[in-house]
Amino acid sequence: ARSAPFAHAMPIPPVLRPTSVTASSELYQLRMAETQVEIVKGLQTTVYSYGGCFPGPTIRALRGREVVVQQTNALDVSTSVHLHGGNVPSRYDGLPMALIDPGESREYRYPNNQVAASLWYHDHAHGKEAENVYRGLHGAYLLSDPHESSLPLPNGEFDIPLLFRDARIEADGTLRYVSPYECPHMLVNGKERPHFAVAARKYRLRVYNVAPNRHISLRFADGAHFIQIASDGGLLAAPVPRDELTLAGAERAEIVVDFSRYAIGSSVVLENTAALESERPEVLRFDITRKADDPSRVPGVLATLPPVPKGMVEREFFMQTFPDTRINGRKYDPDRVDVETTLGTSEIWTIHNWPNRKPAGVFHAPHSFHVHLVQFRLLDRDGRPPGPAEAGLKDTIPIYPGETVRIAMTWGDYSGEYVYHCHHLVHSSHGQMGRIDVLPADPEE
Ligand code: C2O
Repeated sequence: ARSAPFAHAMPIPPVLRPTSVTASSELYQLRMAETQVEIVKGLQTTVYSYGGCFPGPTIRALRGREVVVQQTNALDVSTSVHLHGGNVPSRYDGLPMALIDPGESREYRYPNNQVAASLWYHDHAHGKEAENVYRGLHGAYLLSDPHESSLPLPNGEFDIPLLFRDARIEADGTLRYVSPYECPHMLVNGKERPHFAVAARKYRLRVYNVAPNRHISLRFADGAHFIQIASDGGLLAAPVPRDELTLAGAERAEIVVDFSRYAIGSSVVLENTAALESERPEVLRFDITRKADDPSRVPGVLATLPPVPKGMVEREFFMQTFPDTRINGRKYDPDRVDVETTLGTSEIWTIHNWPNRKPAGVFHAPHSFHVHLVQFRLLDRDGRPPGPAEAGLKDTIPIYPGETVRIAMTWGDYSGEYVYHCHHLVHSSHGQMGRIDVLPADPEE
């Protein structure tokens, strides 16, 4: 099914309201259920939703205030809710085997003891995360802190999450779960190629790639520059001017776009230069409809980043796709510990996207390497140090075919079981995932 481009106004996912508030926490309730939505104009599509919303409602959190989410599963499939990028105790991490069976509920407690960042929550049920996320189990989680809110960045109605993903919608409206090269519909906040009315001023756009299977490269059709201010885990040290933004599955970037350069009544289209041949490149049209005051600005210094961890332990990982999706030749086994470490240990991980004897002509997405619990730092990519946009806090890093990246992290603040995996979720669902157990630090040492 294909509709005229820009037929829908782009919705902004509603901010979830707490059901109760205490001195130190907010309590939320969400129900996962099938919901009918209009993704392609004129068609009704059944999706999985959190709280009836597609994407799920936005949770806004404040550093130091606990968020408690009571999740109830009213679907026919088991689910598990992971807070992506969150520094969260293992029992609330949403591990693959920590399932919420149909009809059951589970409580997740998020301490929010990390810097402001555009996080997200999504499904992580063992072997099913790709399909469950594809069917709609994803939503934004925006964590703020006093430093970030003291900056004069665009805020309020000028601070907007944009969740990009692909989909295949059949002529009768059915959402069909297929491989990424058969997904011709690009959605932003749940609508196929929408339009969005903006004022002629600066906006802070929190760009998410929530596509289960592919990377996207976004660029304005007129080549306009924008300013990147944050990566996965929070603000960059300083703003980075860019004209294109590539995000592997699960990566985020926050950008500031200044629409004051455009005349009222004009439009500018955002294109995906990584679009498939079967697909149109344009994904979102901004319509500049009105004037507005703009007291916002992007300061020259955004944040002081923590020092890059100095590795005490080194590990090596091979991400394989052929003949099957594996890490170091192994498929994920929830009962096997692949990496054992200790709280407080700093590590350097060398990750290769090879060996990879792929059959000729096969579509080859980069891998998207994600580690739970920590925000890591990129040390180098094929020996080259990262550019400024990749030098900040990261929880997900693209690794292109044949490439090697090195990342550094320190294990804190929680001991327990976690995972690392490819965030092209078709890969992780097929076993491209490992288990890491973080042991408590030895009190004798
Ligand atoms: Cu975004 Cu293990 O996941």
